[in-house]
Amino acid sequence: MWEAIGKLSVAFLVLRFGWSLLKGVYGSFIAAALGLNLNVKKTGEWAVVTGATDGIGKAYAFELARRGMKVVLISRTPFKLQNVAAEINTKYGVETKIIDVDFTKDDIYDRIEKELQDLDIGVLVNNVGMSYDHPEYFNKIADADKVFDQLINCNVKSLTKMTRIVLPGMEERQRGLVINLSSLSSIIPAPFLAVYGATKAYIESLTESLGVEYASKNITFQCILPGYVVSNMSKIRRPTLMAPTPTAFVRSSLRTTGVEKRTAGYFMHKLQVFGIEFLKMHLPGSVLSSIVFNQLQIVRNKALKRKEREAKAE
Ligand SMILES: NC(=O)c1ccc[n+]([C@@H]2O[C@H](COP(=O)([O-])OP(=O)(O)OC[C@H]3O[C@@H](n4cnc5c(N)ncnc54)[C@H](OP(=O)(O)O)[C@@H]3O)[C@@H](O)[C@H]2O)c1
Repeated sequence: MWEAIGKLSVAFLVLRFGWSLLKGVYGSFIAAALGLNLNVKKTGEWAVVTGATDGIGKAYAFELARRGMKVVLISRTPFKLQNVAAEINTKYGVETKIIDVDFTKDDIYDRIEKELQDLDIGVLVNNVGMSYDHPEYFNKIADADKVFDQLINCNVKSLTKMTRIVLPGMEERQRGLVINLSSLSSIIPAPFLAVYGATKAYIESLTESLGVEYASKNITFQCILPGYVVSNMSKIRRPTLMAPTPTAFVRSSLRTTGVEKRTAGYFMHKLQVFGIEFLKMHLPGSVLSSIVFNQLQIVRNKALKRKEREAKAE
């Protein structure tokens, strides 16, 4: 009898994993091949991208321009904005607009609202985000109150306020797409990156709720949960199978838009998410927690040693 139960359990697990895998393959490859993913161009004239001068945000700006959209680029550094706008203009011949603001600040939204009024905005990519300088204990972060305020402003407030600014127009036109960048760290414990992980969990929850609220208004909300992508934030310089370039990541993600509401976007990251969710469901929580704790502790120790070396060299 125990043998039969064991076999049944294994069969159940294999079926579950197989089903998730099939859904992932459909979302990443089959749906787009059949033209079932969202045609972003049909949502409106303009795309607005926050954090648009580097990494994933820059790749979204380029990819949306490549698909014929005009792009509003929002970031902190004016000369980077001007360069990216010029590059997009030369490469794709579409109109661009730049807004230089610091999302760690509070008093920027009236200006953004004024700059965006009267634009037919079809797509908003809430991409801007920051993390800790290095993984660290919650109570050991230097100037923690300031750092946490900045993190919450940049990762949580920006996305909430930007959505508030852009949504009324989308509602009036009955079309739109909002893509919110969360992270794989929102679905696992994020020891030593606790506030970062918590901001990303907020994004996941908000996106899901707004997606339900606005589905009947033809506005799509999509939450992206990337694993590692080559960028300044990840400090990964060379692409690998598990850490793609931002362009590869974004092209892959946009294939899932309109098909998957909550997705890792890139197929190999989807496998990571399946793996994590599988472990969470079938093993005691302490197993996953200790794996993550040990991994991030190694990253923390390496970062502290590097800082020590740099301090000695000065
Ligand atoms: N890369 C990864 O492995 C990874 C994994 C999971 C999730 N994500 C998420 O993906 C998003 C993009 O990450 P990324 O790795 O592409 O970042 P990145 O390469 O560091 O680029 C960040 C972008 O945001 C802008 N920015 C940063 N702080 C800003 C501020 N205070 N005000 C205005 N603009 C600001 C930067 O421009 P300036 O330099 O001009 O300020 C830059 O354009 C983030 O939300 C991140 O949490 C990334």
